[in-house]
Amino acid sequence: MLQVKDQIYYLGLKDWELRNFHGHELSTFNGSSYNSYLIKDEKTVLVDAVWNRHSKQFMDILDKEVGIDNIDYIIVNHAEPDHSGALVDILERRPDIPIYCTAKGIEIMRKQFHKDWHFRAVKTGDTLNIGQYELLFVEMTMIHWPDSMMTFVKGPNVLLSNDAFGQHYAGASIFEDENDEYVVMNEAMKYYAGILTPMSALIKKKINEILDMNLPIEMIAPSHGSIWRKNPLRIVECYAKWSDNYDEGYVSIIYDTMYDATKKMADAIAKGLESKGVLCKQFNSSLTDMSDLITEIFKSKGIIIGSCTVHNGYLRSIAALLDAIKGLKFKNKIGAAFGSYGWSGEAHKKIHAELEKAGFQMVHEPFGVKYQPDENELNDCFQLGREFSSYIK
Ligand code: FEO
Repeated sequence: MLQVKDQIYYLGLKDWELRNFHGHELSTFNGSSYNSYLIKDEKTVLVDAVWNRHSKQFMDILDKEVGIDNIDYIIVNHAEPDHSGALVDILERRPDIPIYCTAKGIEIMRKQFHKDWHFRAVKTGDTLNIGQYELLFVEMTMIHWPDSMMTFVKGPNVLLSNDAFGQHYAGASIFEDENDEYVVMNEAMKYYAGILTPMSALIKKKINEILDMNLPIEMIAPSHGSIWRKNPLRIVECYAKWSDNYDEGYVSIIYDTMYDATKKMADAIAKGLESKGVLCKQFNSSLTDMSDLITEIFKSKGIIIGSCTVHNGYLRSIAALLDAIKGLKFKNKIGAAFGSYGWSGEAHKKIHAELEKAGFQMVHEPFGVKYQPDENELNDCFQLGREFSSYIK
């Protein structure tokens, strides 16, 4: 077993092949891992399990390294199947093991597994003495599900944070400082942007609550990806920033196009922004991974979305993007819409309406061009970029 710190060990599995998570909602180009931990004190405690897809492999590890009969307690920080799925196999053999989790966790597991195991409900501030060490539970409601919590191991001072501070990343090492730190941080941000953004207000409050607890955190061990060992509070500080109307001050121009008319408009808008010194990026949404695009929007101060009109609406990749944006509830960002058309010309108006509904401050009227843009119309696009730039500080 790999040692995490003192009497805490890593029992996780690296999923090198995973390329999508949550169905196909999130791309995972760097794989992922399901990190389970074992605390060997006077009591032997298993913290979180793995996805039931990998149950057989996990059970083999438990049998070889721990012995199912030696487990005294199980802590379920979060009941989503990627962490709790393998419990079924453990509890089939040892139904007597007490499971510590939140009241919501009990509710979810009863409904998920249709079993009435020996649940023990805990809440923030509750502790469990396991010998030399004491476990302190901290509820993390909606980070990521209503049941989520973290377990702080007093003594080695390791925070077992489950989804919070995690990344979909399978690395050579279990520690972030021995992996590619830049990639790990990017994956942490992608995870936040694509999964946690709608919960930002709650996260902001929770991060402050955790910081106010003044826990002497020496390591943060999430249930996906790398363990934060070197200056672990770095990732907590990132969460504090990311949950507070985060942007990096640039503009993303996102479009889909049939015969390049909308693309030419995007190019002219970009020149307008650049003429005012505003940094911008361009993405063809039909060629860009949706999760990467969501991360770019997360980092952008403003987005300008374009599509030509098709069937009285916009192109499919833009439809999927707008739908995702609506669910993510971005705050404090500005927007504008553009597009080309042949006869009916709805796309740019509908994009404008959808962005407004999604909470973007629309700073320009929707701008449409019939068939291919001429010099005057390209100049109008250039001006749109310049006007948009006045809203970027
Ligand atoms: Fe990794 Fe919300 O489960």
